[in-house]
Amino acid sequence: MAEPHVEEVIQGHPETAQEVDLALKPEEEAFLLSTTGLADADALKKLILDMQAEAAEAFPYPCIRRFDFVKCKISRLPCYGQLLSLVKDDPTALLLDIGCCFGTDVRKAIADGYPANNIIASDLRPDFWHIGHKLFMSDPATFPVTFVPGDVLDKTFIGTAPPVYDVPPLQRPELRSLRGLAPLAGHLRAIHASNFFHLFTEANQSAVAHALGALLAPTRGSMVFGTHVSRPKKGLRTEAPPPAPGYLGNRMFCHDAQSWMDLWDGEVFRKGTVRVEAQIVEQAREDLVVLNPGVTFYQLVWCVTRL
Ligand SMILES: C[S@@+](CC[C@H](N)C(=O)[O-])C[C@H]1O[C@@H](n2cnc3c(N)ncnc32)[C@H](O)[C@@H]1O
Repeated sequence: MAEPHVEEVIQGHPETAQEVDLALKPEEEAFLLSTTGLADADALKKLILDMQAEAAEAFPYPCIRRFDFVKCKISRLPCYGQLLSLVKDDPTALLLDIGCCFGTDVRKAIADGYPANNIIASDLRPDFWHIGHKLFMSDPATFPVTFVPGDVLDKTFIGTAPPVYDVPPLQRPELRSLRGLAPLAGHLRAIHASNFFHLFTEANQSAVAHALGALLAPTRGSMVFGTHVSRPKKGLRTEAPPPAPGYLGNRMFCHDAQSWMDLWDGEVFRKGTVRVEAQIVEQAREDLVVLNPGVTFYQLVWCVTRL
């Protein structure tokens, strides 16, 4: 049998992804049943598959194919406890989820006590956010997170301010009236950015890091954190297959742990004014082994905290 074309493998075998990836952990299933209000796991599975199909039509990111949108990844990050302590100490603390997709991670943070009114979620593709409302059976009245659609690479949207070092700006912007993220400069206590940075070139990863750094409040303990694809040595992910729709393949630029730390401590922020934790974790990825048997997959798990 002829070797299938990479695109065909990615787009033509959703059933493989379903069998391999829709293996909800018991706590994830419990979270989804309680947030959707559904009574049984079969109805939940059908809803997830229907929403996956809709989202793949909007844009076929690998994370959609792999059901990342139901996996509450934020709570698996080592600094998740730090986020919950931060908001316990300061219930007015603003959190931004950038590249939020369906908004599952902020829903998990809300279930764990983060006030929904103090959360901003942002994504280039509002379709994903709307599908999130369908999946979780919510609407803006029942789920009062502020959603601000836009492109993080658009300077009019994200802003061009340098990081704030002294006192936080006085007037907190009215979240409901936000049309971009620039007015949040110096106001955010926490930013979550998962599976996001690796979508961009090295220069754009740096630009996005600078822009997000400028949104962070100067208050000690303010944090930006997340996870994304990495390599033990920074560079293009040459060990991956060629690009396909929604998949950067061997054109993806990856930081290593040291280059990521150097970017935040010394470039985005003045050296010594942040603590950066960054750790590379090797992951098993059955879906990528289908494409390339020799593939090794690394995630960078990281947190930058202002000192
Ligand atoms: C791979 S998904 C990750 C979603 C989620 N954070 C997670 O961890 O599962 C990347 C998300 O970033 C969004 N995105 C891509 N490019 C963007 C841009 N230039 N500005 C803002 N969001 C963008 C996509 O629409 C998508 O929802």
